[in-house]
Amino acid sequence: MVLAPVIPYYAAAKSPAGSGVNKVASVQRHSPEARLEEAAGLAHAIALDIVHSETMVLKKPRPATLFGEGKILELKGIIDADDIELVIVDHILTPVQQRNLEKQWDVKVLDRTGLILEIFGERARTKEGRLQVELAHLEYQKSRLVRSWTHLERQRGGFGFLGGPGETQIEADRRQIRGRIEKISSDINKIKRTRELHRKARKMVPYPIVALVGYTNAGKSTLFNYLTGANVMAQDMLFATLDPTMREVKLPSFGKIIMSDTVGFISDLPTTLVAAFRATLEEVLEADILLHIRDISHPDSEAQKNDVVEVLEELGVNASSEETGIIEVWNKIDLLPAPARESCLNEAALADHLVGVSAISGEGMSELLALIEGRLTEQFSKIHLSVAPEDGALMHWILEHTQLVSRQVSDETGFCDLVVRGSSQVMGQLENRRSGLRTKKL
Ligand code: GTP
Repeated sequence: MVLAPVIPYYAAAKSPAGSGVNKVASVQRHSPEARLEEAAGLAHAIALDIVHSETMVLKKPRPATLFGEGKILELKGIIDADDIELVIVDHILTPVQQRNLEKQWDVKVLDRTGLILEIFGERARTKEGRLQVELAHLEYQKSRLVRSWTHLERQRGGFGFLGGPGETQIEADRRQIRGRIEKISSDINKIKRTRELHRKARKMVPYPIVALVGYTNAGKSTLFNYLTGANVMAQDMLFATLDPTMREVKLPSFGKIIMSDTVGFISDLPTTLVAAFRATLEEVLEADILLHIRDISHPDSEAQKNDVVEVLEELGVNASSEETGIIEVWNKIDLLPAPARESCLNEAALADHLVGVSAISGEGMSELLALIEGRLTEQFSKIHLSVAPEDGALMHWILEHTQLVSRQVSDETGFCDLVVRGSSQVMGQLENRRSGLRTKKL
Protein backbone atom coordinates (compact mmCIF):
# COMPACT_ATOMS: atom_id res chain seq x y z
CA MET A 1 0.00 0.00 0.00
CA VAL A 2 1.29 3.39 -0.84
CA LEU A 3 0.38 6.29 1.45
CA ALA A 4 0.38 9.64 -0.25
CA PRO A 5 -0.05 12.32 2.38
CA VAL A 6 0.21 15.89 1.20
CA ILE A 7 2.76 17.34 3.51
CA PRO A 8 2.88 21.07 3.43
CA TYR A 9 6.02 22.42 4.86
CA TYR A 10 7.18 25.85 5.45
CA ALA A 11 10.27 27.35 6.86
CA ALA A 12 10.69 30.52 8.76
CA ALA A 13 13.51 32.63 9.97
CA LYS A 14 13.52 34.95 12.82
CA SER A 15 12.74 38.61 12.99
CA PRO A 16 15.44 41.22 12.86
CA ALA A 17 18.47 40.54 14.97
CA GLY A 18 17.96 41.41 18.59
CA SER A 19 14.19 41.33 18.32
CA GLY A 20 14.11 38.39 20.66
CA VAL A 21 12.25 36.22 18.20
CA ASN A 22 13.75 32.99 16.94
CA LYS A 23 14.53 32.19 13.41
CA VAL A 24 12.24 29.53 12.27
CA ALA A 25 11.43 27.21 9.49
CA SER A 26 8.51 24.94 9.36
CA VAL A 27 7.68 21.92 7.34
CA GLN A 28 4.23 20.52 7.21
CA ARG A 29 1.74 17.94 6.28
CA HIS A 30 -1.52 16.93 4.74
CA SER A 31 -3.78 19.06 2.81
CA PRO A 32 -2.66 22.07 0.97
CA GLU A 33 -2.71 25.83 1.36
CA ALA A 34 -5.30 26.16 4.09
CA ARG A 35 -3.34 23.80 6.28
CA LEU A 36 -0.18 25.61 5.55
CA GLU A 37 -1.81 28.93 6.34
CA GLU A 38 -3.19 27.60 9.58
CA ALA A 39 0.18 26.26 10.62
CA ALA A 40 1.84 29.55 9.72
CA GLY A 41 -0.77 31.34 11.85
CA LEU A 42 0.07 29.12 14.79
CA ALA A 43 3.76 29.85 14.37
CA HIS A 44 3.02 33.57 14.23
CA ALA A 45 1.13 33.22 17.47
CA ILE A 46 4.37 32.48 19.25
CA ALA A 47 6.23 35.30 17.55
CA LEU A 48 8.01 33.22 14.99
CA ASP A 49 8.96 34.95 11.81
CA ILE A 50 8.33 32.67 8.86
CA VAL A 51 10.87 33.03 6.09
CA HIS A 52 9.98 30.06 3.98
CA SER A 53 7.01 27.80 3.68
CA GLU A 54 5.82 25.20 1.26
CA THR A 55 3.54 22.30 0.83
CA MET A 56 4.75 19.10 -0.63
CA VAL A 57 3.37 15.77 -1.60
CA LEU A 58 5.12 12.90 0.07
CA LYS A 59 4.46 9.73 -1.80
CA LYS A 60 6.56 7.57 0.40
CA PRO A 61 7.16 8.83 3.92
CA ARG A 62 10.43 7.41 5.23
CA PRO A 63 10.29 5.82 8.68
CA ALA A 64 13.65 7.29 9.63
CA THR A 65 13.35 10.81 8.26
CA LEU A 66 9.83 11.22 6.84
CA PHE A 67 11.28 13.05 3.83
CA GLY A 68 13.40 11.47 1.13
CA GLU A 69 17.07 12.15 0.90
CA GLY A 70 16.80 14.59 -1.98
CA LYS A 71 14.19 16.69 -0.26
CA ILE A 72 16.20 16.78 2.91
CA LEU A 73 19.20 18.10 1.04
CA GLU A 74 17.13 20.67 -0.80
CA LEU A 75 15.66 21.93 2.46
CA LYS A 76 19.10 21.95 4.06
CA GLY A 77 20.15 24.39 1.37
CA ILE A 78 17.29 26.74 2.22
CA ILE A 79 17.87 26.40 5.94
CA ASP A 80 21.53 27.31 5.59
CA ALA A 81 20.98 30.10 3.10
CA ASP A 82 18.30 31.79 5.19
CA ASP A 83 19.88 31.20 8.57
CA ILE A 84 16.84 29.34 9.71
CA GLU A 85 16.79 28.28 13.35
CA LEU A 86 13.66 26.21 13.62
CA VAL A 87 11.73 23.96 11.29
CA ILE A 88 8.10 23.19 11.97
CA VAL A 89 6.69 20.12 10.35
CA ASP A 90 2.91 20.25 10.34
CA HIS A 91 2.68 16.54 10.75
CA ILE A 92 3.24 14.09 13.49
CA LEU A 93 6.88 13.14 13.67
CA THR A 94 8.10 10.06 15.43
CA PRO A 95 10.84 10.74 17.95
CA VAL A 96 13.30 9.07 15.62
CA GLN A 97 12.27 11.19 12.64
CA GLN A 98 12.52 14.32 14.71
CA ARG A 99 15.97 13.45 15.96
CA ASN A 100 17.27 12.47 12.55
CA LEU A 101 15.97 15.63 10.92
CA GLU A 102 17.50 17.76 13.63
CA LYS A 103 20.81 16.04 13.08
CA GLN A 104 20.76 16.41 9.33
CA TRP A 105 19.58 20.01 9.27
CA ASP A 106 21.36 21.10 12.41
CA VAL A 107 18.31 23.05 13.60
CA LYS A 108 15.56 22.45 16.08
CA VAL A 109 12.56 20.64 14.62
CA LEU A 110 9.05 20.87 16.02
CA ASP A 111 6.11 18.81 14.92
CA ARG A 112 2.49 19.87 15.13
CA THR A 113 1.93 18.63 18.66
CA GLY A 114 5.08 20.34 19.80
CA LEU A 115 4.01 23.60 18.18
CA ILE A 116 0.60 23.57 19.82
CA LEU A 117 2.13 22.80 23.18
CA GLU A 118 4.45 25.78 22.75
CA ILE A 119 1.47 28.01 22.09
CA PHE A 120 -0.47 26.70 25.05
CA GLY A 121 2.63 27.06 27.16
CA GLU A 122 2.87 30.72 26.24
CA ARG A 123 -0.77 31.40 26.87
CA ALA A 124 -1.61 29.47 29.99
CA ARG A 125 -1.56 31.83 32.92
CA THR A 126 -3.56 30.29 35.72
CA LYS A 127 -2.03 27.79 38.02
CA GLU A 128 -4.33 25.12 36.68
CA GLY A 129 -3.72 26.20 33.09
CA ARG A 130 0.03 26.06 33.52
CA LEU A 131 -0.14 22.71 35.21
CA GLN A 132 -2.37 21.35 32.48
CA VAL A 133 0.08 22.46 29.82
CA GLU A 134 3.06 21.12 31.69
CA LEU A 135 1.29 17.83 32.11
CA ALA A 136 0.60 17.64 28.38
CA HIS A 137 4.22 18.49 27.70
CA LEU A 138 5.49 15.79 29.98
CA GLU A 139 3.19 13.19 28.52
CA TYR A 140 4.53 14.16 25.12
CA GLN A 141 8.13 13.98 26.29
CA LYS A 142 7.55 10.72 28.06
CA SER A 143 6.29 9.03 24.93
CA ARG A 144 9.32 10.40 23.08
CA LEU A 145 11.68 8.93 25.64
CA VAL A 146 9.90 5.62 25.81
CA ARG A 147 9.96 5.27 22.09
CA SER A 148 13.53 6.25 21.65
CA TRP A 149 14.49 3.84 24.35
CA THR A 150 12.67 1.02 22.61
CA HIS A 151 14.36 2.04 19.44
CA LEU A 152 17.80 1.99 21.00
CA GLU A 153 17.13 -1.36 22.54
CA ARG A 154 16.09 -2.78 19.24
CA GLN A 155 19.22 -1.49 17.60
CA ARG A 156 21.29 -3.14 20.25
CA GLY A 157 19.20 -6.28 20.37
CA GLY A 158 18.98 -6.05 24.14
CA PHE A 159 16.05 -6.53 26.50
CA GLY A 160 16.18 -3.25 28.29
CA PHE A 161 17.51 -4.63 31.53
CA LEU A 162 21.16 -4.61 30.64
CA GLY A 163 22.06 -1.10 31.49
CA GLY A 164 24.42 0.86 29.32
CA PRO A 165 25.05 4.50 30.22
CA GLY A 166 22.55 5.80 27.64
CA GLU A 167 19.91 3.48 28.85
CA THR A 168 20.47 4.40 32.48
CA GLN A 169 20.11 8.05 31.61
CA ILE A 170 16.91 7.48 29.71
CA GLU A 171 15.51 5.38 32.53
CA ALA A 172 16.42 8.13 35.00
CA ASP A 173 14.76 10.72 32.77
CA ARG A 174 11.68 8.59 32.50
CA ARG A 175 11.50 8.17 36.24
CA GLN A 176 11.86 11.89 36.74
CA ILE A 177 9.14 12.63 34.22
CA ARG A 178 6.85 10.05 35.76
CA GLY A 179 7.37 11.59 39.18
CA ARG A 180 6.63 15.05 37.88
CA ILE A 181 3.52 13.82 36.06
CA GLU A 182 2.22 12.30 39.27
CA LYS A 183 2.88 15.47 41.20
CA ILE A 184 1.20 17.68 38.62
CA SER A 185 -1.79 15.38 38.29
CA SER A 186 -2.29 15.49 42.01
CA ASP A 187 -1.93 19.30 42.05
CA ILE A 188 -4.53 19.63 39.32
CA ASN A 189 -6.87 17.32 41.19
CA LYS A 190 -6.37 19.38 44.29
CA ILE A 191 -7.30 22.56 42.46
CA LYS A 192 -10.35 20.91 40.98
CA ARG A 193 -11.37 19.46 44.30
CA THR A 194 -11.02 22.82 45.97
CA ARG A 195 -13.35 24.33 43.43
CA GLU A 196 -15.79 21.51 43.80
CA LEU A 197 -15.65 21.77 47.57
CA HIS A 198 -16.27 25.48 47.44
CA ARG A 199 -19.29 24.97 45.30
CA LYS A 200 -20.60 22.18 47.46
CA ALA A 201 -19.84 24.05 50.61
CA ARG A 202 -21.74 27.00 49.29
CA LYS A 203 -24.69 24.91 48.32
CA MET A 204 -24.92 22.54 51.21
CA VAL A 205 -23.36 24.13 54.21
CA PRO A 206 -25.05 27.26 55.40
CA TYR A 207 -21.86 28.64 56.84
CA PRO A 208 -20.27 31.81 55.59
CA ILE A 209 -17.16 31.54 53.46
CA VAL A 210 -14.30 33.88 54.20
CA ALA A 211 -11.73 33.87 51.40
CA LEU A 212 -8.18 35.18 51.54
CA VAL A 213 -6.94 36.88 48.42
CA GLY A 214 -3.84 38.86 47.72
CA TYR A 215 -0.67 39.37 45.81
CA THR A 216 1.79 36.57 45.81
CA ASN A 217 4.00 36.48 48.90
CA ALA A 218 1.68 38.80 50.84
CA GLY A 219 1.40 36.17 53.55
CA LYS A 220 -1.96 34.56 52.76
CA SER A 221 -0.93 31.06 53.67
CA THR A 222 0.85 32.15 56.82
CA LEU A 223 -2.21 34.07 57.94
CA PHE A 224 -4.52 31.24 56.96
CA ASN A 225 -2.49 28.82 59.02
CA TYR A 226 -2.44 31.19 61.92
CA LEU A 227 -6.18 31.80 61.84
CA THR A 228 -7.09 28.18 61.43
CA GLY A 229 -4.54 26.95 63.92
CA ALA A 230 -5.90 25.08 66.91
CA ASN A 231 -4.61 27.76 69.28
CA VAL A 232 -6.70 30.49 67.79
CA MET A 233 -10.00 28.86 67.03
CA ALA A 234 -11.62 25.56 67.69
CA GLN A 235 -11.06 23.72 64.46
CA ASP A 236 -13.13 21.09 62.82
CA MET A 237 -11.04 19.05 60.43
CA LEU A 238 -13.87 18.26 58.03
CA PHE A 239 -12.31 20.10 55.13
CA ALA A 240 -8.74 20.09 56.30
CA THR A 241 -8.57 16.37 55.75
CA LEU A 242 -9.78 16.76 52.20
CA ASP A 243 -8.08 19.92 51.20
CA PRO A 244 -5.60 22.07 53.06
CA THR A 245 -6.83 25.27 51.43
CA MET A 246 -10.25 25.10 53.02
CA ARG A 247 -11.01 24.70 56.68
CA GLU A 248 -14.06 24.82 58.79
CA VAL A 249 -13.36 26.94 61.83
CA LYS A 250 -15.30 28.25 64.78
CA LEU A 251 -15.21 31.93 65.64
CA PRO A 252 -15.56 32.71 69.35
CA SER A 253 -19.08 34.15 69.22
CA PHE A 254 -20.35 33.78 65.66
CA GLY A 255 -19.73 30.06 65.36
CA LYS A 256 -18.73 28.08 62.31
CA ILE A 257 -17.38 29.58 59.15
CA ILE A 258 -15.39 28.18 56.26
CA MET A 259 -12.06 29.79 55.68
CA SER A 260 -10.55 29.50 52.26
CA ASP A 261 -7.02 30.22 51.10
CA THR A 262 -6.85 31.02 47.41
CA VAL A 263 -3.18 30.17 47.18
CA GLY A 264 -1.29 32.53 44.91
CA PHE A 265 -4.28 33.09 42.68
CA ILE A 266 -3.03 36.50 41.72
CA SER A 267 0.53 35.65 40.85
CA ASP A 268 1.60 35.84 37.20
CA LEU A 269 -1.87 36.65 36.07
CA PRO A 270 -1.91 39.37 33.44
CA THR A 271 -5.20 41.12 33.83
CA THR A 272 -5.92 40.89 30.14
CA LEU A 273 -6.14 37.14 30.48
CA VAL A 274 -8.31 37.10 33.54
CA ALA A 275 -11.54 36.78 31.65
CA ALA A 276 -10.31 33.75 29.79
CA PHE A 277 -9.13 32.06 32.93
CA ARG A 278 -11.76 33.22 35.35
CA ALA A 279 -13.02 29.70 35.83
CA THR A 280 -10.14 28.98 38.15
CA LEU A 281 -10.84 32.07 40.22
CA GLU A 282 -14.57 31.67 40.53
CA GLU A 283 -14.33 30.61 44.13
CA VAL A 284 -13.66 34.22 45.07
CA LEU A 285 -17.09 35.18 43.83
CA GLU A 286 -18.64 32.67 46.20
CA ALA A 287 -17.15 34.15 49.33
CA ASP A 288 -19.25 36.13 51.79
CA ILE A 289 -16.24 38.07 52.96
CA LEU A 290 -12.99 38.69 51.16
CA LEU A 291 -9.87 39.36 53.15
CA HIS A 292 -7.39 41.17 50.97
CA ILE A 293 -4.03 40.35 52.48
CA ARG A 294 -1.37 42.95 51.72
CA ASP A 295 2.32 43.00 52.47
CA ILE A 296 2.32 46.50 53.85
CA SER A 297 6.08 46.45 54.29
CA HIS A 298 6.69 45.92 50.57
CA PRO A 299 7.94 48.94 48.62
CA ASP A 300 5.44 48.15 45.84
CA SER A 301 2.58 47.58 48.23
CA GLU A 302 0.31 50.14 46.56
CA ALA A 303 0.99 48.85 43.07
CA GLN A 304 0.38 45.32 44.27
CA LYS A 305 -2.89 46.40 45.78
CA ASN A 306 -3.95 47.97 42.50
CA ASP A 307 -3.12 44.79 40.62
CA VAL A 308 -5.21 42.74 42.97
CA VAL A 309 -8.13 45.15 42.88
CA GLU A 310 -7.98 45.24 39.10
CA VAL A 311 -8.10 41.49 38.88
CA LEU A 312 -10.96 41.28 41.36
CA GLU A 313 -12.89 43.88 39.42
CA GLU A 314 -12.35 42.02 36.20
CA LEU A 315 -13.83 39.05 37.95
CA GLY A 316 -16.92 41.03 38.77
CA VAL A 317 -16.16 41.83 42.39
CA ASN A 318 -16.66 45.44 43.37
CA ALA A 319 -13.39 45.71 45.17
CA SER A 320 -13.48 49.13 46.78
CA SER A 321 -13.21 48.03 50.36
CA GLU A 322 -15.64 50.24 52.24
CA GLU A 323 -18.68 49.40 50.21
CA THR A 324 -18.26 45.76 49.39
CA GLY A 325 -17.17 44.34 52.66
CA ILE A 326 -13.64 43.54 51.59
CA ILE A 327 -11.43 43.72 54.61
CA GLU A 328 -7.94 44.95 53.88
CA VAL A 329 -5.46 43.16 56.06
CA TRP A 330 -2.19 45.04 56.31
CA ASN A 331 0.17 42.20 57.02
CA LYS A 332 3.84 42.15 58.07
CA ILE A 333 3.58 45.22 60.28
CA ASP A 334 6.38 43.67 62.32
CA LEU A 335 8.74 44.56 59.46
CA LEU A 336 7.90 48.26 59.54
CA PRO A 337 10.04 50.75 61.43
CA ALA A 338 8.29 51.96 64.58
CA PRO A 339 6.95 55.30 63.28
CA ALA A 340 5.53 53.78 60.07
CA ARG A 341 4.03 50.98 62.08
CA GLU A 342 2.33 53.42 64.44
CA SER A 343 0.86 55.47 61.65
CA CYS A 344 -0.40 52.33 59.90
CA LEU A 345 -2.11 51.10 63.04
CA ASN A 346 -3.62 54.52 63.68
CA GLU A 347 -4.98 54.75 60.17
CA ALA A 348 -6.39 51.24 60.38
CA ALA A 349 -8.05 51.95 63.72
CA LEU A 350 -10.04 54.75 62.12
CA ALA A 351 -11.54 52.61 59.34
CA ASP A 352 -13.77 49.60 59.74
CA HIS A 353 -12.37 47.84 56.69
CA LEU A 354 -8.71 48.01 57.65
CA VAL A 355 -6.65 46.10 60.13
CA GLY A 356 -2.90 45.90 60.71
CA VAL A 357 -1.53 42.48 61.61
CA SER A 358 1.51 40.29 61.69
CA ALA A 359 0.82 36.72 60.69
CA ILE A 360 4.14 35.81 62.23
CA SER A 361 3.85 37.42 65.67
CA GLY A 362 0.04 37.28 65.88
CA GLU A 363 -0.24 40.98 66.54
CA GLY A 364 -3.59 42.41 65.47
CA MET A 365 -5.25 39.01 65.12
CA SER A 366 -7.93 39.61 67.72
CA GLU A 367 -8.84 42.87 65.96
CA LEU A 368 -9.05 41.00 62.68
CA LEU A 369 -11.29 38.33 64.17
CA ALA A 370 -13.53 40.97 65.72
CA LEU A 371 -13.81 42.68 62.36
CA ILE A 372 -14.76 39.42 60.65
CA GLU A 373 -17.31 38.60 63.30
CA GLY A 374 -18.81 42.07 63.13
CA ARG A 375 -19.23 41.79 59.37
CA LEU A 376 -20.72 38.34 59.57
CA THR A 377 -23.19 39.33 62.25
CA GLU A 378 -24.34 42.16 59.99
CA GLN A 379 -24.67 39.90 56.99
CA PHE A 380 -26.16 36.87 58.71
CA SER A 381 -29.19 37.56 60.84
CA LYS A 382 -30.61 35.27 63.48
CA ILE A 383 -34.32 34.56 63.69
CA HIS A 384 -36.66 32.61 65.86
CA LEU A 385 -39.46 30.64 64.18
CA SER A 386 -42.04 28.00 64.98
CA VAL A 387 -42.72 25.24 62.49
CA ALA A 388 -45.89 23.16 62.59
CA PRO A 389 -45.40 19.41 62.96
CA GLU A 390 -47.02 18.71 59.58
CA ASP A 391 -44.60 21.03 57.80
CA GLY A 392 -41.93 18.42 57.21
CA ALA A 393 -40.83 19.81 53.83
CA LEU A 394 -40.38 23.31 55.20
CA MET A 395 -38.45 21.96 58.15
CA HIS A 396 -36.20 20.08 55.80
CA TRP A 397 -35.57 23.20 53.71
CA ILE A 398 -34.77 25.27 56.79
CA LEU A 399 -32.30 22.75 58.10
CA GLU A 400 -30.63 22.53 54.73
CA HIS A 401 -30.31 26.23 54.05
CA THR A 402 -29.79 27.88 57.40
CA GLN A 403 -27.46 27.49 60.27
CA LEU A 404 -29.24 25.92 63.22
CA VAL A 405 -28.58 27.66 66.52
CA SER A 406 -31.14 25.84 68.68
CA ARG A 407 -34.18 23.60 68.36
CA GLN A 408 -36.91 22.74 70.84
CA VAL A 409 -40.15 20.82 70.32
CA SER A 410 -43.16 21.91 72.35
CA ASP A 411 -44.79 18.95 74.17
CA GLU A 412 -48.20 20.61 74.03
CA THR A 413 -48.48 21.73 70.42
CA GLY A 414 -45.85 19.65 68.70
CA PHE A 415 -44.53 22.86 67.09
CA CYS A 416 -40.81 23.07 66.64
CA ASP A 417 -39.19 26.22 67.96
CA LEU A 418 -36.05 27.04 66.05
CA VAL A 419 -33.42 29.68 66.21
CA VAL A 420 -31.57 29.80 62.90
CA ARG A 421 -29.12 32.07 61.21
CA GLY A 422 -28.76 32.81 57.52
CA SER A 423 -27.80 35.40 54.97
CA SER A 424 -30.38 38.01 54.05
CA GLN A 425 -30.85 36.16 50.78
CA VAL A 426 -31.73 32.90 52.53
CA MET A 427 -33.98 34.74 54.97
CA GLY A 428 -35.82 36.30 52.05
CA GLN A 429 -36.30 32.90 50.46
CA LEU A 430 -37.60 31.58 53.73
CA GLU A 431 -40.22 34.32 53.91
CA ASN A 432 -41.32 33.54 50.36
CA ARG A 433 -41.63 29.87 51.00
CA ARG A 434 -44.03 30.26 53.76
CA SER A 435 -45.86 33.50 54.23
CA GLY A 436 -47.58 33.59 57.55
CA LEU A 437 -44.78 31.65 59.17
CA ARG A 438 -44.27 33.10 62.59
CA THR A 439 -40.80 34.54 62.71
CA LYS A 440 -39.08 36.91 65.04
CA LYS A 441 -35.77 38.59 64.29
CA LEU A 442 -33.34 38.27 67.17
P1 GTP B 1 1.72 32.83 47.53
O1 GTP B 1 1.44 31.39 47.87
O2 GTP B 1 2.88 33.02 46.62
O3 GTP B 1 0.52 33.56 47.05
O4 GTP B 1 2.20 33.54 48.90
P2 GTP B 1 1.38 33.81 50.20
O5 GTP B 1 0.64 35.08 50.07
O6 GTP B 1 0.61 32.61 50.63
O7 GTP B 1 2.58 34.10 51.21
P3 GTP B 1 3.18 33.16 52.35
O8 GTP B 1 2.21 32.94 53.45
O9 GTP B 1 3.77 31.98 51.70
O10 GTP B 1 4.30 34.13 52.91
C1 GTP B 1 5.35 34.62 52.13
C2 GTP B 1 6.54 34.92 53.03
O11 GTP B 1 6.24 36.00 53.91
C3 GTP B 1 6.94 33.77 53.92
O12 GTP B 1 8.33 33.73 53.97
C4 GTP B 1 6.36 34.13 55.28
O13 GTP B 1 7.09 33.59 56.34
C5 GTP B 1 6.47 35.63 55.25
N1 GTP B 1 5.47 36.27 56.09
C6 GTP B 1 4.13 36.09 56.05
N2 GTP B 1 3.52 36.87 56.94
C7 GTP B 1 4.49 37.57 57.58
C8 GTP B 1 4.49 38.57 58.62
O14 GTP B 1 3.46 38.99 59.17
N3 GTP B 1 5.70 39.07 58.98
C9 GTP B 1 6.86 38.66 58.42
N4 GTP B 1 7.99 39.20 58.87
N5 GTP B 1 6.91 37.74 57.45
C10 GTP B 1 5.73 37.20 57.02
